[in-house]
Amino acid sequence: MRISVIGCGYLGAVHASAMAELGHDVVGIDVDESKVAALAAGRPPFYEPGLPEILASATASGRLRFSTDIADAAGAEVHFLAVGTPQAADTGAADVSHVDAAFAALLPHLVEGALVVGKSTVPVGTAARLADRLAAEAGHASLAWNPEFLREGFAVKDTLAPDRLVYGVAKGDDHAASVLDHVYRAAIEAGTPRIVTDYATAELVKVAANAFLATKISFINAMSEIADATGADVTALADAIGHDARIGRRFLNAGVGFGGGCLPKDIRGFTARAEELGLGETFAFLAEVDAINLRQRRRVVDLAVADLGGSAIGKKVAVLGVTFKPDSDDVRDSPALDIAASLQELGADVVATDPEGIENARERRPGLRYASTMREALSGADLVILATEWNEYRTLDPEAAGRLVGERRVIDGRNVLDPAAWRAAGWRYRGIGRP
Ligand code: UGA
Repeated sequence: MRISVIGCGYLGAVHASAMAELGHDVVGIDVDESKVAALAAGRPPFYEPGLPEILASATASGRLRFSTDIADAAGAEVHFLAVGTPQAADTGAADVSHVDAAFAALLPHLVEGALVVGKSTVPVGTAARLADRLAAEAGHASLAWNPEFLREGFAVKDTLAPDRLVYGVAKGDDHAASVLDHVYRAAIEAGTPRIVTDYATAELVKVAANAFLATKISFINAMSEIADATGADVTALADAIGHDARIGRRFLNAGVGFGGGCLPKDIRGFTARAEELGLGETFAFLAEVDAINLRQRRRVVDLAVADLGGSAIGKKVAVLGVTFKPDSDDVRDSPALDIAASLQELGADVVATDPEGIENARERRPGLRYASTMREALSGADLVILATEWNEYRTLDPEAAGRLVGERRVIDGRNVLDPAAWRAAGWRYRGIGRP
């Protein structure tokens, strides 16, 4: 099919590449010239495993092009809207101005029977509003809402082989569902569950999923606080309750909490939208989920200061990881980076390192000191904080690391190290909610 993808950020760049990989003829549109130039040259502007390969093969085959001119989207049968919906600084609501602008720019280029497909995470009600506008200004085209559930680090796999497909369509619009079935034929043939529903449900599925995941993480982090207060072990607790299939073990890892461009923003956007709908009280618990999450960062900072004998001033602290999760170079709302910056503000000599995120971290926190190697970060450190569970940090040898540091003190902000092995190597080990 002829497809356009409008917005080539994380979501759009992966989606455009994956659609071309599936054999479609794709044009990616973005207003950012440098991003378009990089993508057109087959270079992803961010780190995502597997993306360089499919981007390079799709651009080389001619099935994938990029442009800054929305007119190049003209003629496509399907147009995916994949622009960002950042958090508004004042209200916390999702800012849909980029969606509105992209949609308005696209309108004059829609051919007979074209399908506009929203992928961006939007406040419930947005699709119905856009559909009304479409009916008034381009009645020969139609709209579907098809939320995206890809995870950074697994974005290519999640797009090529999603665990479910959700189509929000207008009442009686069988055409939209059949067009999307065609787009996702490979996934459908592989048996991917597909839910066809209305616009509002499709929009809510996305925020409900992220709100639920955030709640799960904050639940276990709250349990980690009570574990710390009572000498219990939150990891064993998570293992035990996780065996209950109704609960499940995934997303029950206590630690520095969630960050990134999605979970924090989405729960705030969802709360703001619920308030607009008069349901502020019903969703007030999400503010608590947010508060528990942010408190985890403070807890780690407090723990670090206590470990350093009550003051961080002049102490060298090695922070392993700056990204919000491993296998990504994304530092948006990263707990690791916040912790590093807070300790620096308290007078510590902080050195942060990361396999992929230093460049982005430097842009966001230029005042922090960065080391390009773990060895340099660890060298002479009074305290080590594992803040992002990159594989090379989880598998760190306590004996070898011990020879580099000044003091054998470690805070395992992700509960991924083996406390017994680290203690046996002479380290003072502190986890989150672990005795
Ligand atoms: C999240 C969702 O998982 C995706 O399904 C969704 O499509 C995406 O947001 C989005 O809205 O675009 P992502 O932001 O890539 O994906 O990251 P997650 O894997 O969900 O992790 C979020 C944060 O939670 C990370 O900081 C991670 O370290 C933290 N986390 C995760 C925990 O602290 N504990 C856990 O047990 C799991």
